[in-house]
Amino acid sequence: MDINKINILSYIDYKNLYSRETLKEYKSLFQAFSKNENFCKHGNLEKWKNILHLLPESNANHIDFSGSHIVLGDKASLGEQDKKKLQDLLLNLSPWRKGPFNICDIKVDSEWRSDYKWERIKGFIPNIAGMRVADLGCSNGYYGYKLLGLNPELVVGMDKTALFIFQFLATKHFAKQIQKLLILPCSVEEFDSKNMDFNLILSMGVLYHVKNIPCHIDAVKKLIKKNGYLVLETIISSSEKNINIEQGTTYAGMKNIGTIFSKANLIGLLNASGFKNIELVNESFTSTNEQRTTRWMQGKSFKDFTLPNGRTIEGFPPVCRVIFVAQKK
Ligand SMILES: C[S@@+](CC[C@H](N)C(=O)[O-])C[C@H]1O[C@@H](n2cnc3c(N)ncnc32)[C@H](O)[C@@H]1O
Repeated sequence: MDINKINILSYIDYKNLYSRETLKEYKSLFQAFSKNENFCKHGNLEKWKNILHLLPESNANHIDFSGSHIVLGDKASLGEQDKKKLQDLLLNLSPWRKGPFNICDIKVDSEWRSDYKWERIKGFIPNIAGMRVADLGCSNGYYGYKLLGLNPELVVGMDKTALFIFQFLATKHFAKQIQKLLILPCSVEEFDSKNMDFNLILSMGVLYHVKNIPCHIDAVKKLIKKNGYLVLETIISSSEKNINIEQGTTYAGMKNIGTIFSKANLIGLLNASGFKNIELVNESFTSTNEQRTTRWMQGKSFKDFTLPNGRTIEGFPPVCRVIFVAQKK
């Protein structure tokens, strides 16, 4: 097969990443793979498709989402040569921002210890057994795998960064039995709520990247069923005022930052946008234990963007993240 000649959806089918039944049942959702222009026209698409194509075949059927690592396949799933090949191919999909994963005994030590955030949110996630969940800005699907442990009907992740979708597909290669987790190449705003709505939406680490807040909140709200839940995790301003980051400037080294809300303003926004029972359930400061440079993300990280006194290199107060749980009216 000439991998360059087929589209990624046909590839997913050809490699049995999902069963025929799943591909048929969620056909309208999977169409994001063939319809999303930003994804389909990405300059690295062929390179990444090739990496997927070269992944060694394994008899992996061991999966475990209970620990810090998402474990897909065990030591015995691959021989030593194939393990080495797998490691090199996965490294070629760097930077791995979210994780950690353990794929056939290869430990993907991502920039973020995403398990720390999972520990902070897991006690506040409403009962989702048999329910539909969406993870907006899901990156490579780390939390999607975690959510499967809570026995939902379906988890749909959406992310607009093509590389992270390929990272997910690389992990899914070793988890072919999983049918309840779809990670789609689209932004929240592009997802058509006519296709599906959800009992629970996770939006973590997304709000401060948004340029058009009313449009974004509206898109999020449309995806939630009446009385459904939103778990919103974001960076917060420690003063009473929002921090507005001007275009071309950074916040803790990050580009593409819009508004960092104060707690009161965020509660006001949620209230005015049709949410009720808004509860702040966690507040924590980011640390260099949670976000750091590793072999799998060799660029600068949190340590390089903060001063010894905890303030950001731009002089903003220490980076504080909050978790809100709210219900759609
Ligand atoms: C800071 S990361 C957070 C990842 C993960 N949710 C977490 O909490 O660790 C933000 C992610 O959201 C994605 N993203 C940003 N805006 C988005 C949007 N409007 N729709 C979908 N994904 C978005 C980015 O591509 C990126 O992967």
